[in-house]
Amino acid sequence: MGNADLERSISHYRELAPRYDHFTRRIDKVRERAIAALGLSAGESVLDAGCGTGWCLPRLARHVGAQGRVIGFDPSPEMLAVARGRVPDASRPDVHLIEGAAETVVLPQPVDAILFSYTHDLIRSRKALANVLRQARPGARVAATSTKLYGRWLFPANWYLLLTHRAYVTNFDGFEAPWSLLAEHLDEFRVETGPFTQHYVATGRVRG
Ligand SMILES: C[S@@+](CC[C@H](N)C(=O)[O-])C[C@H]1O[C@@H](n2cnc3c(N)ncnc32)[C@H](O)[C@@H]1O
Repeated sequence: MGNADLERSISHYRELAPRYDHFTRRIDKVRERAIAALGLSAGESVLDAGCGTGWCLPRLARHVGAQGRVIGFDPSPEMLAVARGRVPDASRPDVHLIEGAAETVVLPQPVDAILFSYTHDLIRSRKALANVLRQARPGARVAATSTKLYGRWLFPANWYLLLTHRAYVTNFDGFEAPWSLLAEHLDEFRVETGPFTQHYVATGRVRG
């Protein structure tokens, strides 16, 4: 299963970018749940880590309002180009997009909240998590959502999951509990999930 492979991921998303939003339309509801779980207020700054085509960006912007700030980063230029098209008026509220990987990205300011939406490779990298989380304010709210394996006895469904996610994930390490590294960094950590679902929403606060 091995470590995430950033070059391979960039190459996958080069192909996927034009059709990504169509392919992933079935996860809209769970992404909405993760955004709601952040409990954002007007004027706050929020990070969309691995923002991809930016489906979450306008939704996050609505929560933080004109005085707030949304920061997104992604290493795929093609995914980021779609995201840029999605926020044409980048000044109201302030949306700041960065081409870069979680392991090395430098944010323009500390953030009040962080969203990890379908970023399995990222949240399975200790280096990536450490670099992103240290740029949050102490106590910052975090929400993560993505795919995980069903209960073990549902192995045919799990084979299908692994097969269909090869284009999106380069490191299936921890696919049964993808939140486990994140849990090490967060207080008030909670996961909503179950054996009969492939979805989860994990929340917590960055340790001060
Ligand atoms: C499945 S997409 C999710 C995109 C978006 N967050 C969403 O909810 O649709 C995964 C994204 O993670 C990005 N990614 C992969 N490795 C990354 C890394 N090391 N740092 C930051 N982003 C990464 C990919 O380029 C891709 O855009």
